[in-house]
Amino acid sequence: DAEYIKKRIEADFTISRETLLRVTKHIVMEMKRGLHSDGQTLKMIPSFVTNLPKGTETGSYLALDLGGSNFRVCEILLSTDGTRVRCRQKKFIVSEELKKGTSEMLFDFFADAVDIFIREVLGESTSDFNAEYKKLGFTFSFPIKQTALNQGTLMVWTKGFTTSGVVGKDVVNLLQEAFHRKNLRITAAALVNDTVGTLISHAYSDPQTNAGVILGTGTNAAYVERIENIPKWTGGPVASGKMVINTEWGAFDEDHIVIPLTKFDKKLDRASNNPGKQTFEKMISGLYLGEISRYALVDLMKTGFIFKTKNLEDSLLSKPYHFETAYMSRIERDHSKDLSDINALLGDVFKIFDSTLEERSVVKRVCELVGLRAARLSAAGIAALVTKMNKLDGCTVAIDGSVFEHYPHFGNRMRDALFELLGISAENIDFAQARDGSGQGAALIAALADNV
Ligand code: BG6
Ligand code: GLC
Repeated sequence: DAEYIKKRIEADFTISRETLLRVTKHIVMEMKRGLHSDGQTLKMIPSFVTNLPKGTETGSYLALDLGGSNFRVCEILLSTDGTRVRCRQKKFIVSEELKKGTSEMLFDFFADAVDIFIREVLGESTSDFNAEYKKLGFTFSFPIKQTALNQGTLMVWTKGFTTSGVVGKDVVNLLQEAFHRKNLRITAAALVNDTVGTLISHAYSDPQTNAGVILGTGTNAAYVERIENIPKWTGGPVASGKMVINTEWGAFDEDHIVIPLTKFDKKLDRASNNPGKQTFEKMISGLYLGEISRYALVDLMKTGFIFKTKNLEDSLLSKPYHFETAYMSRIERDHSKDLSDINALLGDVFKIFDSTLEERSVVKRVCELVGLRAARLSAAGIAALVTKMNKLDGCTVAIDGSVFEHYPHFGNRMRDALFELLGISAENIDFAQARDGSGQGAALIAALADNV
């Protein structure tokens, strides 16, 4: 009956403290496995970044940043006093066609964007620019098997990309070839993941920063590891004794060992363009949270628990990915007595009119359950990082991404869960919002490479 169904949904989405503790321990174990050898669930990729910035790096650099759905071109000026960073940037939307197109289409789009940026934002002709600039940091936020600071091959696409001809290729090469086709004389000095860029850019002003986390379209984390803890590293001695590791934690639990999945998670996975992959990411990140909620609401509708008199096919609740995570934020933000904004949203976005207050509160509750679970799992990830680094007494975790920035209560729910897990609070572990840092981080990494 209806009450039973509601209770089931509540129970299925709720992760107990015990389970969350098991998740944390299992992440730590998988981290160790990934550091030991290739081919593990957590790829634990050595980034070739072995120094944190000192805050005294200087010079002007270009940064390209392919994150979720945006591609950004920035010019970054690290000033001589080591404190000020000037940044001019332009955003370009990556269309769905490009995400599904060919490698040449995608990389030509990058090169064209750089060309537009030089002419429109910097106001220079490409030939003048070619004479002046040399170095670029390339943030390419996908699992890259890094083979040098400015070299690496794409292992697998994530976040809905399926562009052909890129997997197995060196993405810096593809970029340089596209620059060549457009007569742009720019050299990529660093290839970085957004998590690594976020860590490094925040460390520029806060030396306590030991980890960078992205909670956005996708999710992932990078942290500082000691070389002796990376048995698979065969790249020779490292003077600093440290290496930033890109965990690629989005893949955690692809073998379904610890996190309880609901039937909605399973449906989402089967219908995705990377079934069986990125299990952790599919429960946490912005590309998927709305879709999980949609599956749950469709189920409640089909069983007659909500919107009984309405036809599913007439509503837009039946349309895959129409329920964006941004709507969950809006729904969770509606604290009015009659949930009037949820009412407006249901009508405008889903063509569901005349909902009852009770139905609207069910919609809100489903979002809360899905959002809370995501925040708690993210906290388990951070608890694992802090445990692995042995930094329970204190460090800064730099966090960027649309979910952390815009989803109401996300940060606080994470802090509560971290406290529940480790008994440590915000005083010890500082979750620092690091907005748009990864481009700057890529420039800093290019600068660090210059200074070696
Ligand atoms: C941006 C960073 O601020 O956040 C990107 O510059 C990163 O590098 C992105 O990929 C992640 O957030 P989202 O929500 O755009 O995926
Ligand atoms: C995906 C990518 C990863 C990236 C993350 C956040 O998980 O595989 O490289 O860091 O999204 O953008």
